[in-house]
Amino acid sequence: MAKKLYIETQGCQMNEYDSSRMADLLGESHALELTRNPEEADVLLLNTCSIREKAQEKVFSELGRWRKLKEARPDVVIGVGGCVASQEGAAIQKRAPFVDLVFGPQTLHRLPKMLDERKARKITLVDVSFPEIEKFDYLPEPRVEGHKAFVSIMEGCSKYCTFCVVPYTRGEEVSRPFDDVIAEVAVLASKGVREVTLLGQNVNGYRGAFHDGRICSFAELLRHVAAVPGIGRIRYTTSHPLEFNDDLIAVYADTPQLVSHLHLPVQSGANRVLAGMKRNHTAADYLERIRKLKAVRPDIHISSDFIVGFPGESDSDFEETMNLIAEVDFDHSYSFIYSKRPGTPAAELPDDTPEDVKKQRLQILKDRLTAHTARKTAAMQGTRQRLLVERASERVEGHLIGIAGNNRLVHFPWPDQSLVGRFVEVEITGVASVNALHATAPLWVEG
Ligand code: SAH
Ligand code: F3S
Repeated sequence: MAKKLYIETQGCQMNEYDSSRMADLLGESHALELTRNPEEADVLLLNTCSIREKAQEKVFSELGRWRKLKEARPDVVIGVGGCVASQEGAAIQKRAPFVDLVFGPQTLHRLPKMLDERKARKITLVDVSFPEIEKFDYLPEPRVEGHKAFVSIMEGCSKYCTFCVVPYTRGEEVSRPFDDVIAEVAVLASKGVREVTLLGQNVNGYRGAFHDGRICSFAELLRHVAAVPGIGRIRYTTSHPLEFNDDLIAVYADTPQLVSHLHLPVQSGANRVLAGMKRNHTAADYLERIRKLKAVRPDIHISSDFIVGFPGESDSDFEETMNLIAEVDFDHSYSFIYSKRPGTPAAELPDDTPEDVKKQRLQILKDRLTAHTARKTAAMQGTRQRLLVERASERVEGHLIGIAGNNRLVHFPWPDQSLVGRFVEVEITGVASVNALHATAPLWVEG
C-alpha cells in the first residue's frame, strides 16, 4: 500500500503554498500520498508560524499529540518546518526529542534527501539555512486542483518592521527570476487555472531578473502575468505602502484582470506609532496613495492588517487609527493585539498599556470593520459583478457559488455544474450575510 503523508499548515498563505510544494515534492520522490488523517500517516509534517506568541504555542501542543502516534508506531517520521523551525532550529529537538527532521522555509526542497538520510542514520536532522532561492530550482511542476492557484514570486522580507519576525525566519528579500514565474503561470493556465494569487511578504519589492539581466518591477510583472492566455483574474498579497507607487497604480488603470481588491497593511493610523514600527511612511502618505488609486479604480475595496496595543500606543493614537479607518473606508481587516517577539527591536520597548485596554481597542476596531464590510456588501445590490464560479451551493439545490473580485460569495441559480471554473456576469439582487449575496442567473458567460 502507498505510504501516506499528513501535512498540517499554520499561518500565512506563503505557508500554504510551501505545504503544497512539499506534497508535490514527496509525491514525486517517495510516492507519498496525501491523507487528511494523521493516524494513518507514515510521514507527518508540521509547517509552523511564529508571527505571534499564540501561533508558536500551538506547535508544541500539536507535537505532543503526534508523540503519541509515534509511540504507537515508532517508524512514523515527524518533521517540523516553517518559521518556528527556522527560529528555534535544534532547540526544537531538545523540547521534542521525537522529532526527526527540522527544516526551514528555504530548505523544504531538501526534504526527500533528508528523509533518506534520516532512515539511514537514525539521528535528528536539522537544516534551517537560507540557500538563496535554490528551492524553486528543485520543485516539480505544481499539481493543480481547481481553477485557482498561488504563485510565489519572492521570498523573505528586508523591511525589518520593529515588531516582525519574518526577516529573521524567512531571510531577506529574494525574487524569483521573471522567466520562472511566467513559466509557472503558463503551466498553471494550461492546466485550467483561471485565477492566480502572486505571493510574497512584500510583493511590490519584486526585482526579478529577465534573462538578459534587466530587472523586472512588480508593475511590469503584473502586466506580463495578465498577458498569459487563460489568466482571467490576478490577486496578490502582501504589499507594503512604501512601494505602492505610481507605476503600480497605473496598472490598475489599464489591466482589468487585476481585481478591485487590494490588501495594503497600514498597521496603525498614528504617525508616532508608525515611526516606532519603522514603517517609514506617515498616515497622510498612505491616504495619498489610496486617493490616487481610487481615482483610477473607483470600485476598489481595500483591506488592511492592524496591530493594536503596540508599545506606547495611547488612547489618542488609537483614535487616529479609527480616523484613518473612516477616511480610507476600509472594507475588511485582519487585526491583532501586539505580540512581543523575541529578538525583534520592539521587544525592548516599554509596554505599559493594560491588557484589558488593548482587548477593548481591538474589539472596537473589529466591530467597526464588520460594520464596514456589511455596508459595502449591501451597497453591491443592483450592480453587475463578474464572478469566478467556485462550486455548487451546499445549502440551496440548483444554485452555484461564485466569488466576486472583492471576495464576496455570490449565490445564483443554475441547474448544473457546467459553469464551475468559468467567469460569469450576474446582477446582484439581495444580501445573504455580511459577505455573501444573491444574484440573478448569469447574464453572460465568458469563453
Ligand atoms: N508582509 C506583510 C505582513 C506579514 S505579517 C506586510 O507588509 O505588512 C502579517 C501581519 O501580522 C502583519 O501585517 C501584522 O499586522 C501582523 N503581525 C506581525 N508581527 C506581529 C506581532 N509581533 N504582533 C502582532 N501582530 C503582528
Ligand atoms: Fe514583517 Fe514588515 Fe516585512 S510586517 S513581513 S517586516 S513588511
